[in-house]
Amino acid sequence: MRDEALPEDEVIRILMEMKERDFSYDRFFSTMCTRPHPIAVRAHDMFLETNLGDPGLFPGVADLEQRVVRMLGELLGCSNAAGYISTGGTESNIQAIRAARNEAGKKDGNIVVPASAHFSFDKIGDLLCLEVRKAELDECLRADLASVRSLVDERTVALVGIAGTTEFGQVDPIEGLAKIALERKIHLHVDAAFGGFVLPFLEGDWRWDFRVPGVSSITIDPHKMGMSTIPAGGLLFREQECLSHLETETHYLTKARQASLTGTRSGAAAAATYAVMMHLGREGFKETVRYCMNLTHHLVSGARKIGVEPLIEPTMNVVALQVPSPARVREELMKRDWHVSMTREPKRALRLILMGHMTHENIDLFLKDLEDVLRR
Ligand SMILES: Cc1ncc(COP(=O)(O)O)c(C=O)c1O
Repeated sequence: MRDEALPEDEVIRILMEMKERDFSYDRFFSTMCTRPHPIAVRAHDMFLETNLGDPGLFPGVADLEQRVVRMLGELLGCSNAAGYISTGGTESNIQAIRAARNEAGKKDGNIVVPASAHFSFDKIGDLLCLEVRKAELDECLRADLASVRSLVDERTVALVGIAGTTEFGQVDPIEGLAKIALERKIHLHVDAAFGGFVLPFLEGDWRWDFRVPGVSSITIDPHKMGMSTIPAGGLLFREQECLSHLETETHYLTKARQASLTGTRSGAAAAATYAVMMHLGREGFKETVRYCMNLTHHLVSGARKIGVEPLIEPTMNVVALQVPSPARVREELMKRDWHVSMTREPKRALRLILMGHMTHENIDLFLKDLEDVLRR
């Protein structure tokens, strides 16, 4: 650190220089986040100094957080769900499994997740000293129920289903998983970090949320398809009691007990989420999802015209394209300033997320480059 102060203008100049090095969302196909909605940015700025770790000092933003939890609960079929606004999908998944483990009170426990689960579950295994058992996928890349059944035993503390997998945007058979969870009296956690703000606004009757008896907790991230600011994650439990399995005594704060993983935590993202949900309403989110699905169909039909097929017909705005030597193709596309990623073995493919920041024009430019790269 410097000894003398640096004038404000000089500091800002450095910041601007650094910001210019960041890439632009316009060419991002790899991220599940997007530019936040302008009203979310305004709300975030208004509540920048608030700390939800000590909610008695900030009752206004603490109320906003609970209003967001209520709105999310209504969206997911349980208006009195309990929960809080976390830093994102990883924290929500950690906390859901921690609550399940504490409730089960088993030593040397395990969790059963689909092979398509996000890597946050590997962190969870390490942090919570749980064995992570990975169930096979069926031909549509959903959790295979027979494989899940074969992995569950008396030490299983939670089952996990994904509603919107990170690589394929696929939805696991949540009703089938719930049946196993109810039979074996196990906590079923649904990771809808991405799909939580997509599925309720898609055509069709998806059965994956608290409307399915047996679903105990859900992760839903406002900082992905919810267009809130980073870091905004959502964690919801069907039963208030689950939150109490996460609580510790706080000794010196305004509330005697705390259930969140982090202590000091910004209220800004909760306020931003409240603002964007109120402002857009269901109609606004439907419109966004419709736009993202149009982009998705545009990409897939354009890819087919150049002889490239998706691994599965996209369920939501996530596409995995089958190309020869995907690592080389990705590298060439990155050289042309397209930010794309890849799915894991054994289903290596180009992974593309069609977020609200993408345009039909940029998809056309991307497809031209893809065709060119494939011809070489
Ligand atoms: C299904 C799913 N769960 C969890 C996460 C982790 O979320 P975060 O990066 O906000 O911690 C992701 C991230 O993409 C995800 O796709």
